[in-house]
Amino acid sequence: MNEAPLYAVFGNPIAHSKSPQIHAAFAEQLEEDVRYEARLAPVDDLEGHWRTFLTEGGLGANVTVPFKQEAAALADRLSERARLAGAVNTLIVTEDNTVVGDNTDGAGLLLDLERLGAPLAGARILVLGAGGAVRGVIEPLLETGPAELVIANRTVEKATALTELFNARGRVRGCGFEEIDGTFDLVINATSASLAGALPPLPEPLFNEDALAYDMMYGAAPTVFLEWAQTFGVRCVDGLGMLVGQAAESWYQWRGTRPDTAPVLEALRADLR
Ligand code: ATR
Repeated sequence: MNEAPLYAVFGNPIAHSKSPQIHAAFAEQLEEDVRYEARLAPVDDLEGHWRTFLTEGGLGANVTVPFKQEAAALADRLSERARLAGAVNTLIVTEDNTVVGDNTDGAGLLLDLERLGAPLAGARILVLGAGGAVRGVIEPLLETGPAELVIANRTVEKATALTELFNARGRVRGCGFEEIDGTFDLVINATSASLAGALPPLPEPLFNEDALAYDMMYGAAPTVFLEWAQTFGVRCVDGLGMLVGQAAESWYQWRGTRPDTAPVLEALRADLR
């Protein structure tokens, strides 16, 4: 019997998840003997599959679509950042068998932005979208000390509601796309518009000189947003590094060690091409 510590990712579908590959690469790099498995859970029975996993000695898991909201119910307590994000992407079984629900997406984005040397402290930052993906990144972005953080969304009320939730003394502003004002050092697309091959109606000019355009989505080809941003000559990066970053932060929460994300990202990128 393989007694190596057991981890998993739960999702539906799960076959195309890159998490097993990423965590296998971390394990190899850090020379730690762990098992990390992809587990398909029926949409109506995440809990049953999680309980089975615990009886097998599972020590932690990632949770992906469509379970990020309901995974909170599997936890005995939530980390502050999971509570703020309103979603759980990581479950941690502690030494006293308490299950902690955490969210590492925001930390993953920040790891990637820092790797890229993105403008953060004192910068004007624009986030496009106000869905689940955005809730988890506002607090970590604010912690970097931007001059201003603007959240623009098609449905304006969702952007202003987020602004109120994060109530950061005027440094966060929510608006519609047509009310975006001025130019930005960092523009992060967190809408799912790219999935439909659509581009939010964005004003021009939008970018400062030396700006970074970042899309949380990734794929073999640039997203519509990045294709558009490229025409302004700014640096364009997709969200593959955020994916590796959130995995590295989950790994850290489980194992207490920090993998180097750069070579793992490079290998994933090569596979995408
Ligand atoms: P996620 O968890 O990935 O953020 P979500 O909660 O469904 O997914 O949010 C999707 C985001 O993409 C929302 O901000 C949505 O705008 P609305 O709040 O107005 O629905 C945004 N979005 C989706 N399709 C879009 C499009 N074609 N143009 C602009 N924004 C779009």
